[in-house]
Amino acid sequence: MFNLGRKNTKKVRGNAPDFSSYEGKIPHHVAIIMDGNGRWANLKGQPRSFGHKAGAENVTRITKHAFYRGVKVVSLYAFSSENWSRPQEEIKGLFALLKDFFAKYIDQVTKEDVKIMVSGDITAFPNDLISIIKTAVSQTSLCKNGVVNIALNYGGRQEIVNAVNQVVLEGLPITEDNISAKLYTSEIGDPELIIRTSGELRLSNFMLFQSAYSEFYFTDVLWPDFDEIEFDKALLDYLGRKRRFGGINEE
Ligand code: FPP
Repeated sequence: MFNLGRKNTKKVRGNAPDFSSYEGKIPHHVAIIMDGNGRWANLKGQPRSFGHKAGAENVTRITKHAFYRGVKVVSLYAFSSENWSRPQEEIKGLFALLKDFFAKYIDQVTKEDVKIMVSGDITAFPNDLISIIKTAVSQTSLCKNGVVNIALNYGGRQEIVNAVNQVVLEGLPITEDNISAKLYTSEIGDPELIIRTSGELRLSNFMLFQSAYSEFYFTDVLWPDFDEIEFDKALLDYLGRKRRFGGINEE
């Protein structure tokens, strides 16, 4: 269960760090590049699908914990526009997993008043998956306690191209604000913190426009092993940084 209805920054879980001195500083929006499912499964002598299943289960655990810590928006890179180049069998498995995930997740997030959003072009997905994603989005559209934004068939460059085209079509000046307003994230804003698991040090076409001033946290931990303690480490690392936005003073 999410614990979204109350301020959680004071509560200390077991040996977990005390976040009480960070009241008001917890990032509003955290985005995660969930990488390493395949390697995690490999290390266990299991097929890649086993890793993706564990990765999907971890989504529930980490979104719950992020909200518990006071984060309001969690974005998750689940399927990039480049992932189509994977073997057909793996793609089919990912779609089946996503279908199952959305079916279960709808009830949970509805109860917790959490809104599901999607970034990306899902029209290329199978119809039954599109339908369950649309149900999840519409059923939770009025939810107020937090947002889980799932990037599906998403590519950051294409998102910028689409946004600029829309600005031009509407006859508006091409400004940062006007482009920003046409991005999938127009309602939720830019992520203050972007986490990537599994030791890869790149963005892989994720939130290119939105990440201009994001703080990055890279960890070798593989996504299925990225638990609450690892999330807290990322959060504490972020909280210890001075954000200057090109200036010389802390924000
Ligand atoms: C990277 O692992 C991860 C993905 C391709 C997508 C992430 C998908 C999930 C966590 C499961 C479904 C998502 C949701 C929202 C339910 P990889 O296969 O690239 O791992 P590797 O780099 O070790 O091969």
